[in-house]
This record gives sequence, C-alpha cells and structure tokens, in this order.
Amino acid sequence: MQFIDLLSQKERIRTALLQRIEGILDSGQFIMGPEVNELESRLASYVGSRHCVSCSSGTDALLMPLLAKGIGPGDAVITTPFTFVATAEVISLAGATPFFVDVCPDTFNIDPELVGHAVDEAVQRGLKPKALIPVDLFGLPADYDRLAAVADDYRLWILEDAAQSFGGSFRGRKAGSFGHVGATSFFPAKPLGCYGDGGAIFTDDDELDTLLRSIRVHGSGADKYSNVRIGINGRLDSIQAAVLLEKLTIFDDELEARQRIADSYSIRLQEKFEVPRIPKNYRSAWAQYSLLADSTAERERLIQAMQQAGVPAMIYYKIPLHLQKAYTFLGYSTGDFPVSEDLSSRIFSLPMHPYLKNEEIEQICSVLLT
Ligand SMILES: Cc1ncc(COP(=O)(O)O)c(C=O)c1O
Repeated sequence: MQFIDLLSQKERIRTALLQRIEGILDSGQFIMGPEVNELESRLASYVGSRHCVSCSSGTDALLMPLLAKGIGPGDAVITTPFTFVATAEVISLAGATPFFVDVCPDTFNIDPELVGHAVDEAVQRGLKPKALIPVDLFGLPADYDRLAAVADDYRLWILEDAAQSFGGSFRGRKAGSFGHVGATSFFPAKPLGCYGDGGAIFTDDDELDTLLRSIRVHGSGADKYSNVRIGINGRLDSIQAAVLLEKLTIFDDELEARQRIADSYSIRLQEKFEVPRIPKNYRSAWAQYSLLADSTAERERLIQAMQQAGVPAMIYYKIPLHLQKAYTFLGYSTGDFPVSEDLSSRIFSLPMHPYLKNEEIEQICSVLLT
C-alpha cells in the first residue's frame, strides 16, 4: 500500500501530458515557455487573486515575498513551531528573527489569541514586528477572520503559508488568497504536485507582483542582464508547468475523492480516536489525515501494528521547530509551546490520496481499531 499513490494519478493524465511534454521538447522553450504564463493565469483564476507568480519551490514562494517587502535584520516575523521547517527557515534566510506562537489543539493552526503576546515580546527584545506567517496545516486554512483583526491591530502584514492547502477554502474563498500574499508548494506529495520542485505566489498587489517577477530572475530590471535588486533564480520550468496544467484538469475531482476518504476514515475511527475537526465554513485540501494517539507509547504501538500489516504511516511533526537544533540560537526551551509539544508527541498520519480504495481504508481502520 502506498502512503501517496502518484502512479494511479499518472495513468489518468498520461496521454495528454506526454503530448504536452513532447511539444516542449520540440520547441526548446524549457525556461519561461508559454506553459508558464498559461499556468499562472489558470492558477490566479482558480484561487481568485489578481496575480500568480510561479516559482521553483514552496520555500522560494515564501522567501520571495519577504525579500520583496524588505524584511531583514532587526525585524521579527511571527509564525508557528508546529510546521515544516521551511516556514521559519525563510525568515532566517531573509535575515530576520522568527517568533513562535503556539497552535490551537483542535485545528493545529496558529492561535490568533497568542499573537499579541509574541509581538510584545519581540518589541521588548528590540525587534520590529513586521509580518505574520500563518500555516494552513494538513490542508485546513487558518482562522483568517481573527488573524486579519490581530494583524490590523499590530500593523503586521500576512503571508499565508498555503503549501499544504491548495484547493482548501474558507467561506468559499480559496487557500492562497488570504492575507496580503499567499505561497503554495507543488512538491510531488502536495494536493496539487508536479514531478519535481515547484511553487506559486498569489497576491492582489500590483507593485508586489512586479517586484516578485524581478526577484524571481536575479533582481532583473529592463532585462535579465540589468540587475536592479538582489534576487534569486526562482523560476518554475516549462515541463513542470505542463504537468500542473494537466493535473489541474482532474484536481477538483481529486479533492472530492480526498473528502470522501477523510469522511470514511472519520466515521470508522471516531469511536476510538480524536479525528480531525473541520470547523464550519471550512474545506480542507486533506494534504494529510492525522490522528492523535493517547500517548507516545501508544503511537509507537499503532505504527508498529500498521507496519506489520503493510500499512505505511508518517509523523508530521516529531520535533516542533523551537526544539530543533537549528533553532537553539533563539533560546526557546521545552514547555514554551505546550500544545505543539503535546501534538508532536502523539500525532501520526494515515495514507491519504484520491486513489485509496475502500478495501484499503477498511484494512487501515481495522488495524487501528484492534
Ligand atoms: C507548511 C510548508 N511550508 C513550506 C513548505 C516548503 O515547500 P517546498 O518543499 O516546495 O519548498 C512545505 C513543504 O513541505 C510545507 O509543508
């Protein structure tokens, strides 16, 4: 059994995709070919934002807006420690200081009530709080109503980390469109993934769009060889754009399948587990279906039982970022973010992809329920 089955998906798009790729090989436009523009306009209208700037990864999709907004040394950027390292890493790469805020125990997303405290602490340490990066963990958008109010109060701008939530929504608005700018990832295992690395940035801000396009190509000005600012090589290549264009044709159908599978899991498993709770008016993209075991020892036992039955399981995330070696310099210690620490000690994720069969779901649930 696969944790994520990309091969069944490939069979659905194979013929059309091979045709597109052959066209690119014949044209020789491997970088910034017409597929890239076509993809950007399709993604912008899917998300409902004025602009989409495709780029080389979800990490660069987070980094580029920080560079564009001039975030750097002396600035504090607030985010959660219960996420993939890239969310905080880009803050450090920009030269700023990450400030962590704990998550809500039911949604696993940043707790809006705790943001103000982190802002005050940053100020006390002589830093300027500038931005907030909420993460839409496992596919569920964060609480953007309350976050927007807090961001207004403290004059922070919001960079939505929608790496896991492309396709998710809140009150009909799509993930990627919240805050001032949104960033997503097309890493192969993501709900919408390409066959390599890729990402995209969404914004309604015309000036930011222009800056991002410059930063994406080494800070280019009138052309690639006039360089007016510091940038990166952050382009998405034409073949990955073609893969994404084909996968977009089946994406909504896949999202529905993910929702059906999540419902089947929850119906079967709720008698024994705290199953994921999706608040009213939200839709998750179900990047992961995660459960909480009663204890770390019970988690070990369940994962071992799954392994013995040939069922793969993963742990996202075993170590919250404030306890990672790379972040010891921030001076946090155990106990600083109790919810994230508790989740890290008990969470585990089940196979989740649109091609999971009923028999497989049945098998997974019966292993977990014995
Ligand atoms: C929450 C989050 N942010 C950022 C990233 C970085 O994306 P990428 O791997 O495409 O650089 C990921 C990828 O796993 C992620 O899960």
